[in-house]
This record gives sequence, C-alpha cells and structure tokens, in this order.
Amino acid sequence: MSPGKPTILVTGGAGYIGSHTVLALKQAGFDVIVLDNLVYGHRDLVEKVLQVELVVGDTGDRTLLDDLFKTRDIAAVMHFSAYAYVGESVTNPAKYYRNNVLGTLTLLEAMLAASVKKFVFSSTCATYGMPEIVPIPEDHPQNPINPYGASKLMVERILSDFHAAYDFKSVPFRYFNAAGAAPNGLLGEDHNPETHLIPLVLLTALGKRESISVFGADYPTPDGTCIRDYIHVSDLADAHVLGLEYLLKGGDSEVFNLGNGNGFSVKEVIETAKLVTAKDIKVVECDRRPGDPPVLIGSSDKARKILSWYPQYSSVKEIIAHAWQWHQSRHQ
Ligand SMILES: NC(=O)c1ccc[n+]([C@@H]2O[C@H](COP(=O)([O-])OP(=O)(O)OC[C@H]3O[C@@H](n4cnc5c(N)ncnc54)[C@H](O)[C@@H]3O)[C@@H](O)[C@H]2O)c1
Repeated sequence: MSPGKPTILVTGGAGYIGSHTVLALKQAGFDVIVLDNLVYGHRDLVEKVLQVELVVGDTGDRTLLDDLFKTRDIAAVMHFSAYAYVGESVTNPAKYYRNNVLGTLTLLEAMLAASVKKFVFSSTCATYGMPEIVPIPEDHPQNPINPYGASKLMVERILSDFHAAYDFKSVPFRYFNAAGAAPNGLLGEDHNPETHLIPLVLLTALGKRESISVFGADYPTPDGTCIRDYIHVSDLADAHVLGLEYLLKGGDSEVFNLGNGNGFSVKEVIETAKLVTAKDIKVVECDRRPGDPPVLIGSSDKARKILSWYPQYSSVKEIIAHAWQWHQSRHQ
C-alpha cells in the first residue's frame, strides 16, 4: 500500500466508468482492488492497462465478499457494478432488481459486518424520471419511469436508511450522460451491445454500422431532437476521487448530480462528430421512443460547492475528439 493512502475496493472496475476511475484513483496514490464478474467488463483493461489486482466475482457472493473484507484492509468501496440497459430493464425487471438491488444489498451487508462504512455509489439521472424543471437540482422529485431507474432509486433509499440506522456514510452520484475517453488514449467506452449516442455515431463513422438512428425530430427543442447533458468520463472519475476523499475526511452522506450543466441536441452531436471525424455519417430519422424526455440537463452546483469539482471538458467537441481517438485505436 502507498504510505498514507488506503486501499479501495472498486466493483465494476473492468467497465467503462469504473476503469477510468481506477486510473484516477491510481494517479491520486490509492491502492485499488477491482471486483468484477466480467459479464460486461474487460479483463485486459484491469490487468494489462491499469495493472491493478482483479478479483473475478459477483457482488451477490457473500462468501467471497466476507473473505475479501477479512483478508484485505479495505477502507471504502466504490460501487459501479450494475446492469444499465434501460430497454432490457423494462422487459426483464427481475434481472435488474436482482443484480442492482439485491447484489448491492449483499455488498452493503458484507461491508457492515466488516465495519467498512464508506461507500461511493453510481446512481443516475434516470431516478428523476420526467423533469419538472431544468437544470434538474438534487432535490427534484424522483419518479423513475423504468425499472433501471427504480433499481438505482431503491439503493439510494437503502443508503439513506443505512445512514440513519448504522452511521453508514455514502456519496451517491447521479450521473447525466457519461461520454468520452481518457485523454491519454489508454481507456475508452467499449459496451457490447452499445446503446449510447456518441459511440454509436463514431462506430457509424468507422463503417462498423450503416447509419445512426435519430429517435424523434419533432420535440419542442430548437432543432427538434432531444437535448442531453454530456459529461466527460475523466471528469466523472475525478469527482469520484473527490467524493471518496470527502468521506475519508469524515464528510457526511450527501448526494450529488454530475453533469456539465449545458445541453447538446442529438443533431448537434452528430454534426460535431462529422467535423471531428471528417466523415460523412448517414442519419435515419425514426419515431420517438416512449419515455424520452425532450431535455435532460443537470445542475451540478452542489458538487462544485461541497466537493470543489470543476469539470475540465465542457465542450462536446473535446469529448467526441477523445472518444474518436479511442475508437480509431480500437478498430484500426
Ligand atoms: N454510462 C452512463 O452514461 C451511466 C449513466 C448513469 C449511471 N451509470 C451507472 O454507472 C455504472 C457504470 O456504468 P458503465 O457505463 O461503466 O457500465 P459497464 O457495463 O461498462 O460497467 C459495469 C461493470 O460491472 C460489472 N458487473 C455487473 N454486475 C456485476 C456483479 N453483480 N458483480 C460484479 N461485477 C458486475 C460488469 O461486468 C461491468 O464491468 C453503472 O452502475 C451504471 O448504472 C452509467
């Protein structure tokens, strides 16, 4: 262990946001153990690129967790592991409640048993449902409209009850749209299947997909397409380190939005991607998808104020440029 810096258990550290956060934790001097069942994660990313210890296992495996907490001096847990496909959560909610809620509860109980009481959690703006005001503040009503969002809200409730009953301290972060890739080109977004707009647009630019579908061009927005708040994955990673340090210094449980506070439409993202890649990208306009709010933008004033978190990448062009660098290197 590095002198003075404790060991952090990162669940889902072989995935997209988790791996970028492991890099930021290493750069901040923390020792890291990744727990990932590799259902969606990438072994090489952890073992070869990040060169961090990987425990292949499931957050629902209480015996494995008890053994980990008994044999390792873990000071806090960062919990990224979950299923995150909104559409699948509608058709197979049991899978989502089992993994995202029961898996998390098993982890939390193992933490309690080992007296590890500091927890950073990946929540989501999907817990808000349809926004009543934009930018959305943290005290906005939470009425998720799909089982994925509901599963994350349930964990937030569990954390708030654990705080009251067991003095368990947590920082749930509600992310808006994570995007981009590590500026050093070592890490990036590699979901399979991919459902996020920026990688889909870039895969189209690379000729790996024929076209990009735009779901709805008749929304009440300036160009008719949905507007979203894109936050660079390295900025998210930095926020996690700040949230962890806040808890390690004795900070109380607090929930934070993480977004840029500005919005870009689907058409703006595609036009910017055309500029960045210098490729023509074929667009197919389709019907709206049910449950897509026209505008989703978050207010992250609270994270700025309490955590002194200042995102470095507010331009969607930079976010796309970093993602493009990664996608080109992956698919050359
Ligand atoms: N990507 C986004 O824009 C976004 C937005 C809001 C919230 N989130 C949340 O952030 C977290 C990370 O998202 P991501 O995009 O990096 O996803 P990801 O799928 O790339 O990473 C999740 C990782 O967790 C692992 N995993 C899943 N279930 C597990 C289990 N039971 N035990 C051990 N490992 C398990 C997977 O193998 C994968 O490596 C998720 O909790 C997601 O819900 C993501």
